[in-house]
Amino acid sequence: MSAATARQTAHPSPPAQPAPRHALHPELSSAQVRLIGVNKTYPGQATAALADIDLNIQRGEIFGIIGRSGAGKSSLIRTLNRLEQPSSGRVLIDQVDIGEHNEDHLVALRRRIGMIFQHFNLMSAKTVWQNVELPLKVAGVPKAQRQRKVAELLELVGLQDKHGVYPAQLSGGQKQRVGIARALVHDPQILLCDEATSALDPETTGSILALLRDINQRLGLTIILITHEMAVIRDICHRVVVLERGRIVEQGAVWQVFGDPQHAVSKTLLAPLQPALPQHLQARLLPEAPNAQAALVLRLRVSGRDREAPELSTLFALLGGQVSLLQGGIEPIQERALGQLVVSVANSAHGHAQVIERARQWAAQVEVLGYVV
Ligand SMILES: Nc1ncnc2c1ncn2[C@@H]1O[C@H](COP(=O)(O)OP(=O)(O)O)[C@@H](O)[C@H]1O
Ligand SMILES: [Mg+2]
Repeated sequence: MSAATARQTAHPSPPAQPAPRHALHPELSSAQVRLIGVNKTYPGQATAALADIDLNIQRGEIFGIIGRSGAGKSSLIRTLNRLEQPSSGRVLIDQVDIGEHNEDHLVALRRRIGMIFQHFNLMSAKTVWQNVELPLKVAGVPKAQRQRKVAELLELVGLQDKHGVYPAQLSGGQKQRVGIARALVHDPQILLCDEATSALDPETTGSILALLRDINQRLGLTIILITHEMAVIRDICHRVVVLERGRIVEQGAVWQVFGDPQHAVSKTLLAPLQPALPQHLQARLLPEAPNAQAALVLRLRVSGRDREAPELSTLFALLGGQVSLLQGGIEPIQERALGQLVVSVANSAHGHAQVIERARQWAAQVEVLGYVV
């Protein structure tokens, strides 16, 4: 069984935040978005942009899509509102096959699915207010209703004092807030985000993520987001799928995929989250033990199988001797303890081989980095 199917059949853990959404939405158990055998080959292209995509996304989920550039992320997300038409396969939104929609139905569908982009796509000659109001005008919503909606949304995104301001006078984060308000004008049930924070600095990214999480919880909105920033997935997503050459190579709860990535592509994508060993330590590491007194350097991974971080005192007792923490730490992902510790073990009464064996009783994974004298 491949990693992708193993993950699919594994029982998904409930989203960490929002808390017990199942209690609020009994229909959560049925998928809101379903892709069945979706393929997409662009005209004139030899290789498929999407191949055999089967995917379920639940109502109220924050669902992440990652993959290298050109993996098919944007193509995938654009099949959900029919900006792209699959070459074959079916896309169901709320159990309805959108491939059977006529033009009128598609217009209605796109109102139920909001979308935000990396470059905001605002109209520079229109004010913040007018940018948000425009899709309501196009839809023929009466003025009083428009005014109520725009005021409410600008308040939601924290731009109540920017009504008459033009996009050029806004920061990147404020522009994306306008983009979010505009995406919400028709009370969509799904929000698609294609690299929505990629043009923002880390602090602004944090505030936009907090806003998205808030909208997810307050409005029960399903959020499907593409990003190349793994920290974004770690911080707000419940589940994640990894695409490579148009195929799903891995998917699962974020804590699971981040704690113990199976596919080589997932490992590569997640590598930036793993701190590299300090240079001075790397330079001193010997691949073999020159003698029995050499200190053993181990990388211990805590992969989130347990909700509590395992006790350090237990580790010290197991390893014996002098244990020094050289690098690493634990961080909570979806209320699970994930992380890695690089430790050196010197003067243990147990031999090197036995120390490694004992470390395995404590950590999910033990990697021997080398020896230092
Ligand atoms: N409109 C298009 N016409 C032809 N090829 C396209 C088009 N859009 C995307 N592609 C190709 O499809 C593949 C997937 O692209 P895309 O979905 O944009 O990937 P990602 O968003 O993961 O970077 C790439 O090889 C890309 O060159
Ligand atoms: Mg893209």
